[in-house]
Amino acid sequence: MTKVAETFSVDGYPRESAKAVPGAVAELRGVSKSYGDVQAVRHFDLAIAPGEFLSFLGPSGCGKTTALRMLAGFEAPSAGTVLIDGKDVSGLAAYQRPVNMVFQSYALFPHLTVGQNIAYGLKQQRPKLPLAGINDKVQRVLETVRLADFKDRRIWEMSGGQQQRVALARAIVNEPKLLLLDEPLAALDRKLRKEMQIELQDLQRQLGITFVLVTHDQEEALSLSDRICVMRAGEIVQVGTPRELYDQPKSRYVADFVGTSNFFDGKIIAVNGGTGQISLSDGRSYRAFLSDAIPVGETACVSVRPEQIRMSDTQSSEALEVTIQNRIFLGEHTEYLVRHARLGNIAVMAPRQSDGRLDTLQKGDTAWVHWNPEAALILRND
Ligand SMILES: Nc1ncnc2c1ncn2[C@@H]1O[C@H](COP(=O)(O)OP(=O)(O)OP(=O)(O)O)[C@@H](O)[C@H]1O
Ligand SMILES: [Mg+2]
Repeated sequence: MTKVAETFSVDGYPRESAKAVPGAVAELRGVSKSYGDVQAVRHFDLAIAPGEFLSFLGPSGCGKTTALRMLAGFEAPSAGTVLIDGKDVSGLAAYQRPVNMVFQSYALFPHLTVGQNIAYGLKQQRPKLPLAGINDKVQRVLETVRLADFKDRRIWEMSGGQQQRVALARAIVNEPKLLLLDEPLAALDRKLRKEMQIELQDLQRQLGITFVLVTHDQEEALSLSDRICVMRAGEIVQVGTPRELYDQPKSRYVADFVGTSNFFDGKIIAVNGGTGQISLSDGRSYRAFLSDAIPVGETACVSVRPEQIRMSDTQSSEALEVTIQNRIFLGEHTEYLVRHARLGNIAVMAPRQSDGRLDTLQKGDTAWVHWNPEAALILRND
């Protein structure tokens, strides 16, 4: 029997149940991994649902690859249990798990053809698969990744994007339950990357395989994932849908990592249910939703997304007086950087207006900004 951790630290809350999550295709339970003094992954608790597209998002060195390698079986946890389909797979080597991994470097055999690369894993299987069956599978998967005409090409005759597709084909030909992708698009240029993102998403829907993607690109994580697992220094900080993480981040770290935001430092002066009152450095107090239980007297910050800030060229009692620092025209939106004497720089994303009045504002001009309390969130500073 596996030892089950009693308390879990995801989001700082204890988990309701320490039993296997019913129906989860994979689960990391109380998993940690140390390399000497380095704690690469700490107390990881995560259940992955069948058919889900989940991303690990976090800065370099936060343990994303290590977490993935433990799921794949390339690395053994220092503590905790890895389950696949509810079963402890500690004793199973990578090739015995119904899991495949696409490495950042693709790790293709350059001297083999595209078809031979894809067939390689199938040919290693024991008992041996019939050759006709292997050829059928290779052909089908080549069509899936739209490389049917490239079967006999050598790897070195393929572009970066095509090689990426071969790597994907090689991973999905075994029909794994779980496909692990470690920064699979990092080596591609921006345009190709966008195209491949769409292909990845299509492929995942078409195959119905569970995907776990590692990325440090928040845009990629937001656009592709059903859920994102935000990490910091080996720990899970918050898990949620892209919308949850964007609208209800639990901390400044998450709000900063998922999207962009304005942060104003202050001190909590009152708490009333789900809302709080915070005094900021301009001497005024602001009402906002509380993202978490933060006691009165604690320092915290207010987070307001740039698109939630309204700007006007006329004064009003509620609004803050600012000076225009910079303006970037982005078509539908204009991005302004404005400065408040006490609060500092504020980013404003203003939608295109029919009267175009804001368009005449120049650097150094005065304007007024305000936000609705409903659009502001008080966050812990960590
Ligand atoms: N084999 C190893 N031996 C020693 N330390 C390691 C080993 N593998 C990883 N680490 C350390 O563990 C930490 C997490 O590494 P990991 O590769 O998981 O990070 P990552 O989030 O994938 O980073 P990146 O985005 O740069 O790929 C790092 O501090 C790294 O130096
Ligand atoms: Mg990595």
